Amino acid sequence: KKKWLPMLSLMFVFALFLTACGSSSSQESSGEAETEEKEEKKTLRVVTDAAYAPMEYQDKGEVVGFDIDFVKAVAKEAGYEVKVDHVGWDPIFVEIEGERADLAVSSITINDERKQSYDFSVPYFQSTNKILTPEGSDIKSAEDLKGKKVAVQNGTTGQAAMDALLGKNHKDIKKFEDNNLAIMEMESGGAAAVVADNVVVEEYAKNNPDKKLTVIEDADFDSEFYGLLFPKGSDLPEEFNKAINSILDDGTYTEIYKKWFGTEPNIDVLKE
Ligand code: ARG
Repeated sequence: KKKWLPMLSLMFVFALFLTACGSSSSQESSGEAETEEKEEKKTLRVVTDAAYAPMEYQDKGEVVGFDIDFVKAVAKEAGYEVKVDHVGWDPIFVEIEGERADLAVSSITINDERKQSYDFSVPYFQSTNKILTPEGSDIKSAEDLKGKKVAVQNGTTGQAAMDALLGKNHKDIKKFEDNNLAIMEMESGGAAAVVADNVVVEEYAKNNPDKKLTVIEDADFDSEFYGLLFPKGSDLPEEFNKAINSILDDGTYTEIYKKWFGTEPNIDVLKE
């Protein structure tokens, strides 16, 4: 008579089984969520002077540029998230010195003077100063800048080059807080030329054909290398140097470089 009993107990066992499966799988997923939370990436504060296209500039309120793509790729490789803040050039050094930022990316040339107060990564970009001047001007070399007013961004290697050429605090060196202001000074006739990093002046001349500008190189200007800037004694440079080497080797750097410059980078020169 009680034929339904085995059937019922079978169903009961099956139901138990399903419940067990469900609860075990839900346990598993909550366990996963927990480890994900533990491994959540630390966010580093990166400061920059976003007035140096195509390296770092503002586009619709967003900080973009080669350096920004680069620092994001390196940080990702090293296991960090980044938040990039445009603070301006002089404030970069104040923020890093006060350890209110973890690092800076801003086409910052590695040099001995800066190395005294800050730590740098390995080089990630080669550069040199060049002269931006109106087409047809009689400036053909750095030497021709003597007797002319030259606009530079304050505290840059462009300023240092003019200090060396004309003398420190020379009245003809006009110093500006950002490089775009230096360019505006030249365009309004207050200076005969701007001295700044090659990629920046070249990009500007190319993007503003109506302004009829020309870019002059001079062998007297040093070859420079950019590095990421860290507070002195930071633990990050070691991790970031490894990450820079990885993205130089795995094609990520090349991809970013091609996106911004349309040509292949010379990676060997960075590794010398
Ligand atoms: N490379 C030059 C220097 O280190 C100029 C860098 C200026 N960078 C900028 N984002 N305005 O002095």
